[in-house]
Amino acid sequence: MSEFRLIQVADVHLGAGQSHHLDNWLKILDWIARERPDLVVANGDLVMGDPDNEADHAFARAQMGRLVVPCRYLPGNHDIGDNIIAGNMPKRVDDTRRARFVRHFGEERWAFAAAGWGFVGINAQLLGSNGQSAEAEQWQWLEKALAGFAGLPIALFLHKPLFLDHPSEPDYEDPTLRQSCLDSGSRAQLIGLCQRGGVRLVSAGHKHQTRFFSLDNIYYLWGPSTACVNGPPTALHWGAREVGFIDFRFRHGGTFEHRVVGGDFLFRHESYMRKFAVAKP
Ligand SMILES: [Fe+2]
Ligand SMILES: [Fe+2]
Repeated sequence: MSEFRLIQVADVHLGAGQSHHLDNWLKILDWIARERPDLVVANGDLVMGDPDNEADHAFARAQMGRLVVPCRYLPGNHDIGDNIIAGNMPKRVDDTRRARFVRHFGEERWAFAAAGWGFVGINAQLLGSNGQSAEAEQWQWLEKALAGFAGLPIALFLHKPLFLDHPSEPDYEDPTLRQSCLDSGSRAQLIGLCQRGGVRLVSAGHKHQTRFFSLDNIYYLWGPSTACVNGPPTALHWGAREVGFIDFRFRHGGTFEHRVVGGDFLFRHESYMRKFAVAKP
């Protein structure tokens, strides 16, 4: 295989009996059926909002199951709960929620090689778990997975960005900012592994914003949500406030291309309006 074409969809946010966001997903299914990429990576937040809504998990899985090409899944905060140290949602990651995700979507982490690249996906929600045994297992697994691709460029996928402005930034006091990325301890550990292991690209979702930059020989991408943009227009934004998905092409020799697709044919839902209500006098 000379080229491996991978589509990252993120923050699909599908809910049983709810038509918003499904409109975009149906259009993406058609696009993928026409384009026939090699793989889709669903980078977290597959369900609408509540990690414990069994019907939403079943609905999201059924909709993802309509893809005509293979798909690999990763969990987000809305799928299995937020991170223990850096999270903000009342519901946090635990073994029960992880087991529900695995029951519906299969693996919570994976690794494979194609077109001279190593591809690794990890469960971002487990990072900074304050001692959950599943986190220690994942760190060991990740070290082995990266070592198994020795000499190959590696693309790493996970739901949450590693940081907002720079790897050296401290953990934010503001819980909204703090939940936007990994806690500083997990981030340092992960970047250390990435630097030693040959990771060339880190692709995340979660922020519902599109952003690309490179730092210390690693390309960082924040993929847009296929569903909606988040927060009011006055909120802090680091990237483009748009909907879409990423069309990657990985090639032998360690090169890759990417483009954002969908901004011109998906509906740009604004999620904050659904939560917005003016207090009654
Ligand atoms: Fe999301
Ligand atoms: Fe998220």
